[in-house]
Amino acid sequence: MTYQSVYEGWQQDPEGFWMQAARAIDWVQPPTKALFAENAPLYEWFADAQVNTCHNAVDRHVAAGHGGRVAIIHDSPLTGTRSYITYQQLLDRVARLAGALRAKGVAKGDRVIIYMPMTPEALEAMLACARIGAIHSVVFGGFAAHELAVRIDDAHPRAIIAASAGVEPGRVVPYKPLLDKAIDLAEHKPDFCVILQRQPQTAPLTPGRDVDWHDFQTGADPAECVPVAGNHPVYILYTSGTTGRPKGVVRPTAGHLVALNWTMKNIYDVEPGDVFWAASDVGWVVGHSYICYAPLIHGNTTIMFEGKPVGTPDAGAFWRVIAEHKVRSFFTAPTAFRAVRRADPTGALIAQYDLSSLRAVFLAGERADPDTIRWAGEQLGVPVIDHWWQTETGYAIAANPLGIEELPVRAGSPSVPMPGWDVRILDDAGRPAPAGKLGAIAVRLPLPPGTLPTLWNAGERFRTAYLDRFPGYYETGDSGMIDGDGYLYIMARTDDVINVAGHRLSTGAIEEALAGHPDVAECAVIGVADPLKGQVPLGFLCLNSGVERDRDAIVGECVGLVRERIGPVAAFRLACVVERLPKTRSGKILRATMAKIADGEAFRMPATIDDPAILDEIREALQTLGYAGGGRPG
Ligand code: COA
Ligand code: AMP
Repeated sequence: MTYQSVYEGWQQDPEGFWMQAARAIDWVQPPTKALFAENAPLYEWFADAQVNTCHNAVDRHVAAGHGGRVAIIHDSPLTGTRSYITYQQLLDRVARLAGALRAKGVAKGDRVIIYMPMTPEALEAMLACARIGAIHSVVFGGFAAHELAVRIDDAHPRAIIAASAGVEPGRVVPYKPLLDKAIDLAEHKPDFCVILQRQPQTAPLTPGRDVDWHDFQTGADPAECVPVAGNHPVYILYTSGTTGRPKGVVRPTAGHLVALNWTMKNIYDVEPGDVFWAASDVGWVVGHSYICYAPLIHGNTTIMFEGKPVGTPDAGAFWRVIAEHKVRSFFTAPTAFRAVRRADPTGALIAQYDLSSLRAVFLAGERADPDTIRWAGEQLGVPVIDHWWQTETGYAIAANPLGIEELPVRAGSPSVPMPGWDVRILDDAGRPAPAGKLGAIAVRLPLPPGTLPTLWNAGERFRTAYLDRFPGYYETGDSGMIDGDGYLYIMARTDDVINVAGHRLSTGAIEEALAGHPDVAECAVIGVADPLKGQVPLGFLCLNSGVERDRDAIVGECVGLVRERIGPVAAFRLACVVERLPKTRSGKILRATMAKIADGEAFRMPATIDDPAILDEIREALQTLGYAGGGRPG
């Protein structure tokens, strides 16, 4: 089998391709057909099937005699613990939690928000929701109360499942006070909250609203899997868009099962029973797809790692975990490799571990710089595969499909489109660009199974954000090119989304937070290059006239404000006060031009700029922060 033959097979008969892949899933009622195109350009896959995600991720493996196989390894250098959960144990725990939720009235279609650190209970909560057809929405623990409140008001959860605390290097993160504040801020109130009391910090429960995780489940009857329609959402995952309001990406049940299962062998080259490790967080799409769902659906052992690439306790943490648990396929973000390389440039720690189980490393979440990939490949002696995807897609658009054929790696490219994806480069007028020419990256509709059919509560925004600009296509928001051999290159976002340590952030959301400072009249946030995190946000602040206060104090307050409102994950530390912002004559702030100046890149003076002299002021301000030729690496 070759990549080309598989891709052409899909091109010739896309529906047949996915119907074949669907045979690996246990259906309560199989789909009569693959694609439902009646409402084009809105599409659905396997919509008339009846199926349950939890059954496919857990029960069916136990029924097939694999109950003794380890489903989840929780390896937590941050709490100094390790635990192993078999498929049988997972089934018992999930069925009981699902039964307790059902007993409190949570039913098919209800939303449940999960706000938890990297504990196995987070996966159990996700699976328990899927078991009874409730739609979960996991909120990343590094987001603060305001961001959680925004998601509560959009998802309207019947229940919230949270932990008392998480652990980050050198500090405990108290989740419960953030949850309480978020519920105070939100207009919608959940019926009840289930709280996992977690060491090292438990939290007082709010009488009448909060129940303890264990008490809640005592005596609960285990729940059976509830069949849902193929197009029923299994989850909503909020992601950053251009504005401060996050987009609720909807994940449809059946397509998600079929597509994720397909990727495990064909892209990641693992067989059921192999150990698979995605070192991400359950709050991101990588965590949803490759810590929780795909490995479990495929019958693998998944690792949940509560630690960091460096400092827990050293830059050998990844290699220790791979050696100890015999990981075959390992998935992380380039930023993690940059951190490891910085701490251990010669790979001395790598040499201390037996990495013979490792077949390949996969990188995604941000642009993988060729230098980092080369270093990792040389140090590890296995293929290091860049692959490109988004929260919206749920799995890789482009990759090197190791389980089909290992294609030659090209530096700077996440290789080629996977079956299901007809990727095109379009110019501003929507015309196909020739090979090697930069343009907007778009995908011919329909998108394959498991991708977002719409946004939660925002059907119109779905159309305007993704479908309207290039009719007949999905607009990815990334720009890039395809070379003469079909290899794809991802260059930059075309919108105001930035990527900080593999975390997707909206500059608009940071600007909204800054605008809340009483002295700030106007502001703009851009992403600037960072040697470790890829990008970091940098803010320009214009103050209200008459403000005489110390500017450093105001900057410090603004840094605190972003941490307080969005959370530590924003990594917002750089800001400066400027007199004016560069704008077009129609008043649009020239963020992209400022970002190019900061990174020392060539830029064309925008023809519509109101006053070019402002760019000199911006350059000077950036230089005082060490950018725009002021000393920091670009
Ligand atoms: N709960 C609470 N706080 C969290 C958190 C969580 N789940 N995850 C991160 N944070 C906090 C961190 O403690 C840090 O806070 P600080 O400002 O007090 O130090 C802040 O958010 C930024 O975290 P992070 O982006 O992880 O950066 P870092 O400086 O702690 O570590 C790296 C740098 C490179 C080691 C780290 O960024 C890394 O490896 N990230 C993994 C990338 C990744 O997996 N991305 C997911 C896409 S696949
Ligand atoms: P997220 O939705 O958080 O997964 O972020 C998706 C965005 O991250 C994409 O639109 C890209 O901008 C960027 N991204 C993800 N993977 C890659 C990659 N392999 N190369 C370049 N950019 C990537």
